[in-house]
Amino acid sequence: MAVDYTTHDGVAVITLNNPPVNGLGLSTRAGIVEGIERAERDPAIRAIVLTGAGKAFSGGADITEFNTPKATQEPTLATVIKIVEGSAKPVVAAIHSVAMGGGLELALGAHYRIAAPGAQIALPEVKLGILPGAGGTQRLPRAIGLEAALNMIVSGAPVDSQKLAGSGLFDELVEGDLAEAALAFARKVGAQAGPHPKVRERKIDHPNAEGFIQFARNSVAAVAKHFPAPLKCIDAVEAGVKHGFDKGLAFERECFVALVQTPESRALRHAFFGERAASKIPDVPADTPVREIRRVAVIGAGTMGGGIAMNFVNAGIPVTLLEMKQEALQRGLATIRGNYEASVKKGKLKAEALEARMALITPTLSYDALKDADLIVEAVFEELGVKEQVFRRLDEIAKPGAILASNTSTLDVNRIAAFTKRAQDVVGMHFFSPANVMKLLEVVRGKETAKDVLATVMKLAKQIRKTAVVSGVCDGFIGNRMIEQYIRQALFMLEEGALPAQVDRAIEKFGFAMGPFRMSDLAGNDIGWAIRKRRYQEQPDLHYSKIADRLCETGRFGQKTGGGWYDYVAGERTARPSTLVDDMIVAYSKEVNTERRKIGDDEIVERLVFALVNEGAKILEEGIASKASDIDMVYLTGYGFPLHRGGPMLYADTVGLYNVERAIRRYAAQPNGDAWQLAASIAELAAAGRGFNG
Ligand code: 3HC
Ligand code: NAI
Repeated sequence: MAVDYTTHDGVAVITLNNPPVNGLGLSTRAGIVEGIERAERDPAIRAIVLTGAGKAFSGGADITEFNTPKATQEPTLATVIKIVEGSAKPVVAAIHSVAMGGGLELALGAHYRIAAPGAQIALPEVKLGILPGAGGTQRLPRAIGLEAALNMIVSGAPVDSQKLAGSGLFDELVEGDLAEAALAFARKVGAQAGPHPKVRERKIDHPNAEGFIQFARNSVAAVAKHFPAPLKCIDAVEAGVKHGFDKGLAFERECFVALVQTPESRALRHAFFGERAASKIPDVPADTPVREIRRVAVIGAGTMGGGIAMNFVNAGIPVTLLEMKQEALQRGLATIRGNYEASVKKGKLKAEALEARMALITPTLSYDALKDADLIVEAVFEELGVKEQVFRRLDEIAKPGAILASNTSTLDVNRIAAFTKRAQDVVGMHFFSPANVMKLLEVVRGKETAKDVLATVMKLAKQIRKTAVVSGVCDGFIGNRMIEQYIRQALFMLEEGALPAQVDRAIEKFGFAMGPFRMSDLAGNDIGWAIRKRRYQEQPDLHYSKIADRLCETGRFGQKTGGGWYDYVAGERTARPSTLVDDMIVAYSKEVNTERRKIGDDEIVERLVFALVNEGAKILEEGIASKASDIDMVYLTGYGFPLHRGGPMLYADTVGLYNVERAIRRYAAQPNGDAWQLAASIAELAAAGRGFNG
């Protein structure tokens, strides 16, 4: 049963019981109506309490039902709320832990609301690309005022129930036993004559509602960019302010129905579920026991090691930081301190917290200090020989059961594991730079990595607020393996007729945070050069445009050398098209006998994005990633892929794999077409009329 019904001396208690978060799916909605009707029929009942079992009052509408017949099947949430509000017997919503979205809207339909402190109150629909669709845009402004409500609706951010005490939302904030307090409150109001108050009947008081709404619209328009929902939230609130509750409600409904079908909403929901799905590994059961991680050690205090250490420290986990030389250690610690100081300056961290965090770091030059570590993350130079030295040493000193992780970005984790006699304890933890900021963590599963090691690392990733995605072992893992194909296409297009600024502009218009050339200038063109040099040896037949090598031969490594694909003025980050580089590109086309042609923006976007998709499909075929949404999470959290498109694989589904296949075949027939080897699964799925996500 999704809803329980009990009676307690004149009070009926309707308890939502639909784990994990009491989502308001069809059976829960029907259960609430049944409960209200039963209470109304029973003459012994004077009042009704509506509450939630487990870890939430309610997390809102059941998102999995969206765009399915169940979502619109009666009783819809709007109907449920109407019935609750219309009950002659007073309904008291008793809120603990979470009241979000439809959950809060349901509570707003009750006659009274009491809450426990610390409950998270939100209308987070906008984060799913929709707006509150069951009266939230109409009732919340009436409950807490126009400005506070609009802030909550447009941001979707949760607010602590304590902060809302006195806002008009709650009749009482209850410190002690919420269930007892709810019964007492219900008995009190049950003894009072009706009618009982309805939020919909309250007025929205604001000295200059129109002015405020216009101000909000301007501010939101500036940041909403690719997402239509935030402005629709404002329109819906405005409709209620101008035309009254019923018209506002009807308009809100109209907007909800339109928004839920947009690709932007689909993308955001995909990301919501994708993030949660990423933490589940098909052959690692959810109840796999985890190892306890109380102390972490990080080896190497360079660019990555320092950032990695900060992640653990930020989560309150002490870290021992090992370096080879005192100077390197000092330098690493100074960088960490500098990062924290910058946070203090920005007001994001209290000065006392800075010292507390630094105190959690134990610097050392001795491997002996690593003996107690439950997890050791290696972030030393990217050379197999150096990794070998480190892992052989770790095998000697690490305590039994300690997890040994490598942050390598290009080396074979199985080979690294083989340097130890405990390959089952070895795993890749591939952080992205800057490691204390970037959300993505690729967890690289070696062929012998134990299941409990994976389960432990996935759990730990949540603790340090990373989005962890499991990747099998292959060159570049998921993210870098795909980006290589994207870069290859970008370079071919320079050779065929485009210039860096055009390529960047086209893909940035598509929504990428930064195009490949601006990105490469930021990261350093020498990094890709080093990888290509290795490739030329390992796979001499692989066809690459040599234009990037030419650039590197002139020492133009990017921002750090004052020039790369673009020119940079010292102290600035603005990329200015470079006549010198553009001429170099044109000359190169001539040298390789390529007649330059005008390449349209559509072709640029297709070739870049479908290169990702094609490689992503192969990664799935090989089982390197276990599901398409994992690949999307890698790209959304680590590579600046536009969120409103949901990641490369969802985007391919949106375009349709039939169309993706046709485009790839077309590009394969063009000059440089040998870079396109169509993934078999694209053709198979297209023929079956399916997509990567079903
Ligand atoms: N519908 C369906 N499933 C939901 C859900 C929802 N509204 N909210 C959470 N879940 C699922 C998650 O997918 C996850 O499933 P899994 O265990 O199979 O992976 C499970 O519940 C637990 O979720 P979390 O891991 O996120 O648990 P937390 O305890 O960390 O967080 C939460 C709980 C704060 C409720 C968080 O899940 C959350 O923010 N949920 C989304 C809330 C939301 O957006 N509500 C609005 C829905 S739209 C709506 O109400 C429309 C209405 O206006 C008409
Ligand atoms: P870095 O050169 O900034 O830092 C490496 C540090 O390791 C140096 O401080 C060095 O003194 C120390 N070190 C070297 N050998 C050591 C040893 N035997 N014992 C203890 N310390 C030792 O390098 P960076 O960029 O931090 O890279 C580290 C690792 O992270 C590499 O494997 C790299 O591939 C990987 N990585 C790097 C990313 C980046 O963007 N820089 C991104 C993701 C992974």
